Amino acid sequence: MIKMDSKNLLYEGKAKSVFQGENPDEVIIDFRDDMTAGDGAIKENMGQKGYINSVICAKIFETLESEGVETQLIELCKPCVMKAKKLDMIPIEVIVRNIATGSIIRKFPFEDKAPFNPPLIQMDFKDDEFHDPMLNDAISIALGIASKEDLDTLRELALKVNEVMNKMFKDIGIILVDFKIEFGKDNDGNIILGDEISPDSCRLWDAETLDMLDKELFRQGKDDEVIDDDEVIDAYEEVFNRLLTEEDKEKWGI
Ligand code: CDP
Repeated sequence: MIKMDSKNLLYEGKAKSVFQGENPDEVIIDFRDDMTAGDGAIKENMGQKGYINSVICAKIFETLESEGVETQLIELCKPCVMKAKKLDMIPIEVIVRNIATGSIIRKFPFEDKAPFNPPLIQMDFKDDEFHDPMLNDAISIALGIASKEDLDTLRELALKVNEVMNKMFKDIGIILVDFKIEFGKDNDGNIILGDEISPDSCRLWDAETLDMLDKELFRQGKDDEVIDDDEVIDAYEEVFNRLLTEEDKEKWGI
């Protein structure tokens, strides 16, 4: 039996809670409906988000595994609840960009929507207090959060993840604009993809209309109040519906 109570709580993040699993090397991740923006300054409950994101994440992680990228996923026990390998997380947000938008065009003179070829890899220090500043290798090594070898592995894995996800999304009429991933180390020191991949952590555009199908809708809705919460969840559901096969739905009891 999986117990998700405060006694077993290991870590509570902005959108997920992590509990000790039955086995010491395992955790249970609860995908909650909380939606945050601005380093957690804005927080809201977004119905069905945990359900949708956990399933999208499991589908992406399974596909990555089948393409040789090791992930934290052991199994999606049921929507919202994922059994995963316990990892010692590296506090680096690895961002992969295929198209220039968002913070990169605010910070540097890249043309809006210009493609990056090869994809651009950026690493940010995961720390809300410091507002996730951009890293370079020297700073990461000096902070003691990763070795040169680790950083090379992160870049290599990030490019592979991008390659697999680009194809997955292209096949369902979605452009993978950019995304953020996080890695951790297992007991043997292997670097493994952890955290989540979902519309919370990716920019996804409909290939025909270029409509946004991701968390950017929530961020913009908070800024200009034109987009309401239903539209945000509808967009996440659209990704969910395009990505999942009937077989997936049967397997996860959806
Ligand atoms: O969203 P914003 O313009 O502030 O940041 P960005 O650096 O352009 O974000 C690049 C990608 O990483 C987007 O897909 C974001 O959703 C994702 N990201 C994330 O998931 N979590 C963060 N803390 C920062 C970025």
